[in-house]
Amino acid sequence: MRSVEMKTEVGLLNGTPDKRLYWSIISDYDLKTGLCELIDNAVDIWTSGEFGTPLAVSIVLDADQQFISVTDNAGGVSRADLKLLITPGGSNNSPDDETIGIFGVGSKRAVVALSQRISIKTRHHSEKSYQLDVDNAWLENPTWELPIYELPDFEPGTTSVELHMLRRKLEDADVIEVREHLAETYGLFLERRNVSFLVNGSPIEGRTFSKWAYPEEFPPHSATFPVDRGNQGTARVEVTAGLILDRDTRGENYGAYIYCNDRLIIKELRTRVVGYTVSAEAGMPHFDASLARVIIRFNGPAKLMPWNSSKTDVNSDNPTFQGARPTIIKLLGHFTRVSRALRKEWQSKVFPFESGKIVNIEAEAPIETKRLALPPLPRVNRNHAEVLKDDNKKVIVKYPWTSGLVESMAAVDMITRQRLETRNRIALILLDSTFEIGLKEFIVHKPDLFGFPDLKQLFKKRDDVIKLVVTKVAIPDGLLRRARHYYDQRNKLIHERATVGITNEDVDNYREVVSKVLNKLFYVKL
Ligand SMILES: Nc1ncnc2c1ncn2[C@@H]1O[C@H](COP(=O)(O)OP(=O)(O)O)[C@@H](O)[C@H]1O
Ligand SMILES: [Mg+2]
Repeated sequence: MRSVEMKTEVGLLNGTPDKRLYWSIISDYDLKTGLCELIDNAVDIWTSGEFGTPLAVSIVLDADQQFISVTDNAGGVSRADLKLLITPGGSNNSPDDETIGIFGVGSKRAVVALSQRISIKTRHHSEKSYQLDVDNAWLENPTWELPIYELPDFEPGTTSVELHMLRRKLEDADVIEVREHLAETYGLFLERRNVSFLVNGSPIEGRTFSKWAYPEEFPPHSATFPVDRGNQGTARVEVTAGLILDRDTRGENYGAYIYCNDRLIIKELRTRVVGYTVSAEAGMPHFDASLARVIIRFNGPAKLMPWNSSKTDVNSDNPTFQGARPTIIKLLGHFTRVSRALRKEWQSKVFPFESGKIVNIEAEAPIETKRLALPPLPRVNRNHAEVLKDDNKKVIVKYPWTSGLVESMAAVDMITRQRLETRNRIALILLDSTFEIGLKEFIVHKPDLFGFPDLKQLFKKRDDVIKLVVTKVAIPDGLLRRARHYYDQRNKLIHERATVGITNEDVDNYREVVSKVLNKLFYVKL
């Protein structure tokens, strides 16, 4: 029976969305994301205009009155386009344009997320001036119609969004945070002389992150290349990495900084997406690595940009990002290793070199075939084990038996960097032994807690050992479950005929579990 031949039309469904749609699209918006969406729109309209008029955006954040407004002179919204301001999905942007807006939800999400009574006033060039009022009553009413009001004329080309009855209390501290956030998010726009933002009347100074150090042997490197997305178009990518001069005291401002069409999407990203894993180039994020930064700029059709829908994170599955990822990982990995290798000599070998040239290099092929031509690493006179032991010096002096555990973890890390086909299997077995030995050391060195149990008997069953340990130290169930899983994997490797495959993720995951548990037991930092 073929259903195609059987079907008969029996009526029409009306697919008009329910107003409830608004609640879903606002749910993950905060003050900063909301304000940025409104500013994005002004920036988009301004960049697409041919007129060279300067862009001015004025933001008012009034904690006394609990009132917010965003006013721009980007051109205004024409009468025919007013509906774009309230229709979810309504947009004038083509996905092929190099804009920030693309999803057609930004302004709607922003205003509704922040406020219960919204007024939008706009004047498209020298046309008439209009006002729309959106409030809770309209949001709860099933109808989609909204009155348009005409106003006495105000400044041509201006749009002002006014937010009353804020959903979350606006605090004075928010103003400082917003200022910083805007300075960074729009740093590349604010660098241009014809763009200015005011918050409560005072201008925002743009902030960018190319604060490179230029040591003779390790100057910053940059690769500029296209990512061809077939008939979808092409995105341009610039990946620049190096050691930085502006490391903050907390040592947190390193990692990846990503812009899409000149707007900062995320900063200080330190995840496996950009190469921070035990087994890959950058290793795990660590203080020693905190001089390595990579700045990635994607430009091109909005539909090719690797951002999430609120533009607060990178979408690492996006093929444009994937095309750039090998270069990102290579460059960040290189400078991470340089940062580590020089860690005792930053003062003399990095910070004095404040000027120089960025070296241009070729991009890494999307599938790793070519190697980047990078200068050789500085000779490291201390190996990884020494570094880890140095980090845990105090603990090791106090509890000498932790030395072996620290060295085992260093050995795991070294093995995962070898070109051995079965390195993950070896690493897993070693991790599991380290875990077990850690438990044993804990029990035998705490006779006050555990007395002198018969170890041979006790260690016949891992579960019994763990049960005993958790009577004295709280270890989160989640960690124990993960440990259990990898213990089973190890047993399969040892006792079963077929060999299970162990992935890089498995090793990273188990390493994290073991290092967390050892930290709970002995305060070692691994
Ligand atoms: N400040 C503004 N000035 C002029 N037009 C605007 C402004 N804000 C929004 N618009 C118009 O409303 C449309 C919808 O905006 P938005 O919901 O943010 O979606 P998107 O930015 O994805 O297009 C924009 O495409 C633009 O045409
Ligand atoms: Mg928008």
